[in-house]
Amino acid sequence: MKIFKHVKRCIAAGAVALAAISMSPSTAIAQSDPSGPSTRVVGGTRAAQGEFPFMVRLSMGCGGSLYAKDIVLTAAHCVDGSGPNTSITATAGSVDLQSTSAVKVRSTHVLQAPGYNGNGKDWALIKLAKPINLPTLNIATTTAYDNGTFDIAGWGANREGGAQQRYLLKAKVPFISDATCKAAGGSYSGLIAAEEICAGLQQGGVDTCQGDSGGPMFRKDSAGAWVQVGIVSWGEGCARAGKPGVYTQVSYFATAIKNAASQLG
Ligand code: ARG
Repeated sequence: MKIFKHVKRCIAAGAVALAAISMSPSTAIAQSDPSGPSTRVVGGTRAAQGEFPFMVRLSMGCGGSLYAKDIVLTAAHCVDGSGPNTSITATAGSVDLQSTSAVKVRSTHVLQAPGYNGNGKDWALIKLAKPINLPTLNIATTTAYDNGTFDIAGWGANREGGAQQRYLLKAKVPFISDATCKAAGGSYSGLIAAEEICAGLQQGGVDTCQGDSGGPMFRKDSAGAWVQVGIVSWGEGCARAGKPGVYTQVSYFATAIKNAASQLG
């Protein structure tokens, strides 16, 4: 069943303790990892302050990226719909969410991908009440960078069923072809090849996880600048062998995102 696929994932997340397939944002409170540096985000390590300055944490428990100084790009499944919305707080400028130097700005408006129905089209824009003076992240406008090794980062769980993180974690994951991704079976057989891009290690161990949703998957372009190729969307569990992370394929939506951003003003 294709319609409401994401909704079903959310329900699954609520019903099953270790959410098998989930797109629902986590609302867990950020906290430090009590188990120390050996337990890392599904294979990640801590990002250095300023390493990924475009990273945003959203108050509903999602990630995002600074598309413009006053617009955050995130996942459609992280927001409730489109329209005026002052309920979201964006935190940026610090790897430590509890730092007094972290910048916090409220939303004024949300624009969810037109036609979003829980299956594909997993992107949304959040307009901020004021600009944040940090570098923005360019989005891929062609498929040229939809390959290679990607960087992922977020304050989400550091293992399946784990706690949200106080400090930004990062990892690298290789591209996985649509064919290989579909062959993972289960929900992956419904992969929308044009709209979604997969990444992960065949043996598992490195992945995004709950609470990373909406955050960017990115790499360097030919000029050495960061370019966003994906938006954290879903996966079966986290970092499981043979179960890749699935990301919104940003290049496919580049024009739609650009048009949506100009609508937000
Ligand atoms: N839906 C999750 C969220 O809301 C992200 C899941 C990503 N899962 C994965 N295995 N890559 O944060």
